[in-house]
Amino acid sequence: MYLIEKTAQMQETSRQIRSSGKTIAFVPTMGFLHDGHLELLREGKRRADVLILSIFVNPTQFGPTEDFGQYPRDMDGDLKKAEDVGTDYVFTPPVGEMYPYGFQTKITVERVPEHLCGLSRPVHFEGVATVVAKLFNITKPHVALFGQKDFQQLSVIRRMVTDLNMDIEIVGVPTVREPDGLAMSSRNKYLDPDERRSALCLKKSIDLAIAMIKDGERDPEKIKSAVRDLILSYPFTDIDYINICDPLTLDDIRTINEKALLALAVRVGKTRLIDNRQMDVKASV
Ligand code: PAJ
Repeated sequence: MYLIEKTAQMQETSRQIRSSGKTIAFVPTMGFLHDGHLELLREGKRRADVLILSIFVNPTQFGPTEDFGQYPRDMDGDLKKAEDVGTDYVFTPPVGEMYPYGFQTKITVERVPEHLCGLSRPVHFEGVATVVAKLFNITKPHVALFGQKDFQQLSVIRRMVTDLNMDIEIVGVPTVREPDGLAMSSRNKYLDPDERRSALCLKKSIDLAIAMIKDGERDPEKIKSAVRDLILSYPFTDIDYINICDPLTLDDIRTINEKALLALAVRVGKTRLIDNRQMDVKASV
């Protein structure tokens, strides 16, 4: 496994891989790798000849009051895990490599970010789209893998790739969970033992919504109200949003007729957690 810090060197390496006829799979991350990230890497390994991982805590996707400074880091642990799953190259640029003096270009996906997390994190998706576009230009992948856990992020990336005619296959990988159902996240590290117990309310909400739909409930408001009560019955919880929306546009829906996305963002103590589940009434959830 090779470690690369310079954009020019990563670009040259990717160019050479491509000209030797090999395909490239790319997994962008902010590090502090857990099994969710590793699943993306394993899937990437299955889909291409060469696997590139990036580890870069991207400052432009954090708001001024968010956790950029405290974001957990463990480069040595990350490199070991990456090597164990067969990563070929790890790209870890310093901030100055990605945003040199004079940098002033941004990618704005207009409507997808007007929902869910975009409402409470106004600069977030612009930062994500811009850094991912840059990383695509640097690593030149044939296929790139993203987690369904960050459903809106995946939607933004798909929209950007379609709208800007980027010749890259985008693969969404199902959410990897802890044994009790909590979606894996680098931010779970912030939870103390009591908060960790409360964090289970997100998965319990998904289970409740599914049970209600299986029982024939089709009114999003009734499901959201039951989910709200459930979440607030757990200590330390504060709801950012509970939404039931169209999985393609993320627009709210009035009745659950076919496909729907339940998306949740809940603060547990100071930690903001998200989870979601796509539901298909015709396929009985
Ligand atoms: P990060 O939070 O490190 O996540 C990197 C990738 O891992 C994302 O595609 C995310 O959806 C996926 N992921 C996280 N937890 C997962 C889980 N439990 N199961 C499956 N996949 C999971 O998302 C980012 O970084 C950044 O916004 C990034 C795309 C790297 C741009 O800076």
